[in-house]
This record gives sequence, C-alpha cells and structure tokens, in this order.
Amino acid sequence: MNNSPTTHHLPHTLLVTGGAGFIGSNFIRYILNEHSDWQIINLDKLTYAGNLENLEDVKDNPRYHFVKGDIADRKLVDALFSGEYFAANSLTPNTQDLIPNTQDLTPNTQDLTPNTQDLTPNTFLQVSTDEVYGSTEKGKFIEQSPLSPNSPYAASKAAADLLCHAYWKTYQLPVIITRCSNNLGPFQFPEKFIPLAVTNALENKSIPIYGDGSNVRDWIYVADHCRALDFALQKGEPGEIYNIAANQEKTNLELVYKLLNIMHEPQSLVTFVTDRPGHDRRYALDASKITTQLGWKPTYSFEEALTTTINWYVDHEHWWRKIKSGEYAEYYQRMYPQR
Ligand code: DAU
Repeated sequence: MNNSPTTHHLPHTLLVTGGAGFIGSNFIRYILNEHSDWQIINLDKLTYAGNLENLEDVKDNPRYHFVKGDIADRKLVDALFSGEYFAANSLTPNTQDLIPNTQDLTPNTQDLTPNTQDLTPNTFLQVSTDEVYGSTEKGKFIEQSPLSPNSPYAASKAAADLLCHAYWKTYQLPVIITRCSNNLGPFQFPEKFIPLAVTNALENKSIPIYGDGSNVRDWIYVADHCRALDFALQKGEPGEIYNIAANQEKTNLELVYKLLNIMHEPQSLVTFVTDRPGHDRRYALDASKITTQLGWKPTYSFEEALTTTINWYVDHEHWWRKIKSGEYAEYYQRMYPQR
C-alpha cells in the first residue's frame, strides 16, 4: 500500500487550534509543505507553551494566517468557520486589532463546534492522546479499550473525546479522533522529558528522573504523527478513532542513557528525584487499525528520531535558551498584553 495519503476530499482551509505549540507547529509546517493548495488558519491563545517563534519560517507564507484568540470566543470561532474573518481581512490581517476581547475561559472542545448547519466543516479532527486509556502493565490499548484517565489533564482529554463522539452521534458532525503516543522532535517545550534532558546535558546540569526510571513510554517522531494526522484527515472515516504509535517502548532510564550516549555525555548527570504524583507506569498503543485500514506507517526509527531531535536542540540553542531563561515569556507579555 502507498504510504502517502491520496485525497478523496480536499479541506482547502484548515483551522488549526493551538498551532503555535510543539505538535501544532510541526503539523502546520508539514501541511504547508505537503499540500501546495491548502491554506491554514492558526488560532492560538499563546499561553505559556504557544510560541510564534516555532513558526517563524512560515509566517510570511500567503497560505498561512495567524489569529491570536481563544477557542472559547464563540463569535471569533464562528467568523473563522464561515470565512468571514478572512474575506474581510485577507489582505491586511492585523490580527491584533481584529481580535475582540476574550474572556479567560477554560478552553472547551464544545466551543469549537459550529452552531449552524451551514458552518459544518468537512472534518473535525480531534487530536487526542494515549493518556486517555490510563496505564497498563501488560498488552496494548486498542481503540475500543475503556477510557480510564488518571490525571486531570488526561481526564479533560477523555471528556473532549466523548463530547466529540456525542456530536457525531447526535448532529453527525464529521468527527475523527486520533490518539497518539509520546512525541519527540523539534520545537518541543523544554519542560518535557527529552528536550529537558538534552538541554540540561548541554548546560552540564543534572537530569531529573522521576522515581526509579522504570516507567515506560512509547515514542514516535513528531513528523510521523503529523503524517498520520494527514492520513486521518484524508482517508479516515467520520465517527472513527485511530490510535497512532510507532511501537517503540522505552523505560525512561533506557531512554536517557541512550540519549547521553549519543551526546557523549556521562551517565553521572542522571539524578533520581521524587516521583510525580499519579505518574502513569506504562503507555502502550496498538496502532494496527490506522496501518491496515488507512495505510499509514511510521518512517523514523527511534535512534534516527532521537539523533535528529538532539541535533536540532544543539543547533537551536537560541530558541530554547530564551524559553528557559524566561525572556520569551516577558516578550509576549509586552507584545500581546491581555485586553
Ligand atoms: O502522549 C502521552 C503524553 O505525552 C501526552 O498526553 C502529553 O500531552 C505529553 O505532554 C506527554 O506527557 P508525559 O507526561 O508522558 O511527557 P513527559 O515528557 O513530561 O514525560 C515523559 C516521561 O518522563 C514520563 O514517564 C515522566 C518522565 N519524566 C519527565 C520529566 C519532565 C522524568 O522522569 N523526569 C522529568 O524531569
């Protein structure tokens, strides 16, 4: 089977929410490169992990539009769905001036569902996570496994998945849900394990490992995830759920030793620290549905993905130093004050 998706319906405009984060920015870059006739609207509230520097290289692309705003801002989301916003402002999109005041509401997937039939999108892709299944010592989760989230974050993702499913059942909103395992790659916020370990090693600082380091995560390179999302968008069936994973389980300790080995840094940098509350033991996904039904498969081995990621952080010291030092947060406070 061909490992690139063929189009059966072209959603020429994608509204990506949270596109200035790690996976969102990689996805936007991927789509702009892969589909020369697609345009993207990126709606992002620019909270702590949203970073416009992640999209510096595409910001002048005429097929890319950034809107600072909140998905809980109903009027704004409706305007974006209907295309009004861009019809009115496509030539001089000064998004700062055009964004109405937003209330600081907790973002809610329900807010993203259009409120009239004519504004229904071709596809509503809910990008979810393996965390919704909870933790398992043995075996792998399939799409029908019960949801059993253990953290408030995972519970909110599970709730969003259920809400999406309900919109499909009740209103036939063409929802597709994807659930992916842990991602690694460029532009991941340096509070996460891999970028934290790489940048700490570069700064000759210790690397904190929660508990005894035997928790297991299943890793996938972010570009493989983005390709899988493209497959789901183009070939997925409304109402269906697709797990996405590359079958690359590692304990945290195995991972950090491999990383230090590639970087020629000593294992003595590893420091065991108190475990995180509610730390799930093991995530593991069975991704055979997307492979057999949609023809997607991962292309990066774990070693390739890790080496590429490490090299990216080595080459982009300016990017992560700004974040780690807090300089970036101050800059955005100045540029985008809450009104
Ligand atoms: O795909 C699963 C999840 O992956 C997603 O739902 C989340 O949105 C995403 O942030 C990520 O969550 P994790 O908590 O698994 O990722 P993190 O990189 O924080 O941690 C990976 C593992 O490393 C986890 O077992 C905790 C451990 N860890 C993490 C940090 C930051 C440490 O041992 N030390 C650390 O300092």
